[in-house]
Amino acid sequence: MTRSLWLETAPSPARREPPLPREADVLVLGAGIAGLTTAYLLAEAGRSVVVLEAGEIAAGVSGHTTAKLTAQHELIYHRIAARRGPASAASYGAEQLAALDWVVRTAEKYGIECDLERVDSYVYTTDQEQVEKLRTEADVAAKAGLPASFVEEVDLPVDAVGAVRFRDQAQFHPRKWLLGLAAELEALDGRIIEGVRALGIQEGSPSIVRTTAGALRAKDVVVATHYPIFDRGVFFARLEPTRDLVVAGPASRQVVGTYLDAVTHHSVRSVPGGVLVVGGEHYRVGDHVDVAAKHERLAEWARDRFGVDVRYRWSAHDMSTVDGVPFVGRYHPRASHLWVATGFGQWGMTGGTAAGLLLRDLVQGEPSELASLFDPGRVSLPALVSFNATVAKYLAGDHLRALRAPGVSDLPPGEATVTRQGATMVAAYRDEAGVLHAVNARCTHLGCLVQFNNAERTWDCPCHGSRFALDGKVVQGPAVRPLHPLPEKGKNQ
Ligand code: FES
Repeated sequence: MTRSLWLETAPSPARREPPLPREADVLVLGAGIAGLTTAYLLAEAGRSVVVLEAGEIAAGVSGHTTAKLTAQHELIYHRIAARRGPASAASYGAEQLAALDWVVRTAEKYGIECDLERVDSYVYTTDQEQVEKLRTEADVAAKAGLPASFVEEVDLPVDAVGAVRFRDQAQFHPRKWLLGLAAELEALDGRIIEGVRALGIQEGSPSIVRTTAGALRAKDVVVATHYPIFDRGVFFARLEPTRDLVVAGPASRQVVGTYLDAVTHHSVRSVPGGVLVVGGEHYRVGDHVDVAAKHERLAEWARDRFGVDVRYRWSAHDMSTVDGVPFVGRYHPRASHLWVATGFGQWGMTGGTAAGLLLRDLVQGEPSELASLFDPGRVSLPALVSFNATVAKYLAGDHLRALRAPGVSDLPPGEATVTRQGATMVAAYRDEAGVLHAVNARCTHLGCLVQFNNAERTWDCPCHGSRFALDGKVVQGPAVRPLHPLPEKGKNQ
């Protein structure tokens, strides 16, 4: 099934949604790991906190991860040291270790059963040419204070020629953890309201946030919606959306530790009960890829090497910054009470928790040495140009492709197209029963043309990663409005 193991094995508890309060000290948008951690920490510090979640708690990006809780973020330490100096690499590493430690201590304190296990974490390679890079990473990370070393072998059925090992990291069940944390937040009188989407903000003192359930005033507003939903701060030009596919199921071969291939992005970890979670088939959102075929390739990889009987398939959706360091702090340079946490790449479990620890200090007005490292205002011009050249390429290429695409009337069952009908760009899918589902193909965020994802049957935007259901409903932002429905005459062809 195209469903996350985490969501299947930790269903939502029955909840009675409280009415939307009119005001709060702090409003947090997004009940994923960054939002809930920030909210919990601020409630613990005595602030009145409201969390709004457009969907369900931990059912978005945080419920679609591989859930490795580690300070080992691919090969980031030599990148940070080279760009920003060894002290920055050390600060980044210390914050990730602090985040890991905080999760372990808090789970223990409240007895949150989230399958948390301490394991070593590995980034390996099967490519001889990468070995030197891995050696450098191990060296830089060790000097930065991380428990890192280079090892020549890993206990995996792959032809690894070297790996960076981080000792004593962890893995857990992200949704069990977050449902437990949400309960502790509510025990501190924090309020979490599901099914309410923020639509806009009037910044001020307090700020007024317009939502689908009315308006709310808050002194501080924290935007932890994966992709920041308010169009200020120019995040759309500074975040690159990518995806990794994931499969899971009982396996005949087990692994101890968490593993990531530095080149192919294949990843492996275990779950109690003899289940393996295997990731891979990394791609940039918007590349014209056959997602169903990629999922099948990954399933084959997992079956061949580990004997995985694939029962679950999902995709992990990530936002990366140019330098690999998340954006955590002031939403834009003039913001005094509007905050953001985004751009965790594939490392949202520790990254999102670390963001919560930092935002607690910043919102409380406490100085933090980490503020400049994670400052969302930093830019890197050459990389920005390259990010946006990619977006421009999608804009131009997808338009041309749509102009040449055949009309919807010839669309066979099970197929989708984006094409022009008169003045309108149409995104159309004909289901197996022959029913046509058609919506306006222009993404309601900034107008790129959406593309069909044939594995999850969604319309995905190549520019900044918004996703929509077949009927146009928003599955994932930054878009907050659905794709426009088509006039009936356009639909019935
Ligand atoms: Fe930005 Fe679609 S997500 S244009």
